[in-house]
Amino acid sequence: MNHVPVMLDEVLTALAARGGAIYIDGTFGAGGYSRAILSAADCRVIGIDRDPAVRPVGDDLKRASGGRFVLVEAPFSAMRDVVAEAGGHLVDGIVLDLGVSSMQLDQAERGFSFAKSGPLDMRMSGKGPSAADAIARLTEKELADIFYIYGEEKKSRRVAAAIVRERAENPFTTTDHLASVVAKAVGGKHTKTHPATRTFQGLRIFVNDELGELVRALSAAEQLLSPLGRLVIVTFHSLEDRIVKTFLRARAGLNAGGSRHMPEIERGPEPSFRLLTRKAIEPSAEEINVNPRARSAKLRAAIRTEAPAWPIDISLFPNAPSLSRLEASS
Ligand SMILES: C[S@@+](CC[C@H](N)C(=O)[O-])C[C@H]1O[C@@H](n2cnc3c(N)ncnc32)[C@H](O)[C@@H]1O
Repeated sequence: MNHVPVMLDEVLTALAARGGAIYIDGTFGAGGYSRAILSAADCRVIGIDRDPAVRPVGDDLKRASGGRFVLVEAPFSAMRDVVAEAGGHLVDGIVLDLGVSSMQLDQAERGFSFAKSGPLDMRMSGKGPSAADAIARLTEKELADIFYIYGEEKKSRRVAAAIVRERAENPFTTTDHLASVVAKAVGGKHTKTHPATRTFQGLRIFVNDELGELVRALSAAEQLLSPLGRLVIVTFHSLEDRIVKTFLRARAGLNAGGSRHMPEIERGPEPSFRLLTRKAIEPSAEEINVNPRARSAKLRAAIRTEAPAWPIDISLFPNAPSLSRLEASS
């Protein structure tokens, strides 16, 4: 299935693209946002995606754009390096549409889906430790923390214990093997959501260091945006949204709400952002009807002020196992 861009009209309104400006689309995917931004104004777009599989779509858009578009394979946390390598310094807008694309979810061989049998992979970039490595090498406690914090799975300990028992006899290499062990551990009746949904979400966030990437990207965006430049972010679950909300509210000089895993961050000197809207913007009922993937989307946007960027917020990093734990031991 082709990826249908989520909240495209709202993203374009928030970004307010204008001629002569330079934008970063940090999550190129199927190119829905990049294409629309290039059509909205005579501007330039630097697309970033860490998935090498999106390259052909990027090449097509590059040809069609008359030199106004380039695609760079990189994690979006490296956006400052990407811009520097393109010979730039500041940009006028940055958009991020977090999570995985429909193409990634639909291709069984990428290993994101419990509904399809495939290798237990889940790496957007195809590099680094895979989901199978995590399941094989992390301790029971680490697995439980990942499922609980990143997956918001209440039965995380039971799931982790079942995995550790099973892996001693039968190592996990496929998505369906993991999904069936998790489903048995979670138990209960099959409801609308598959019982392995939360465990798979937790594992995917861990394997791709999704929240660490987001915290580093927010800080990089703050450094890269010129005054009046716009930051537009679409999130798909509460962990992501909480990080974006806490970051932007603090940077806008408003009280930031904390939580046990993501404590409140200190007020800084001068606001480096002004919020475009106080509350997150949500998709219309019509959009959710046509594209159910949009149902949990939230858009937050802010305008860069002239104040200097603040130091990166260490406290925004979730208090949960991080990928460095596996990278260090590989
Ligand atoms: C939801 S899709 C974006 C869809 C896109 N807005 C469109 O309209 O087609 C997310 C894309 O971002 C990429 N991505 C996710 N996290 C990333 C990261 N930290 N760095 C670079 N790319 C990332 C994924 O590989 C995926 O292709």
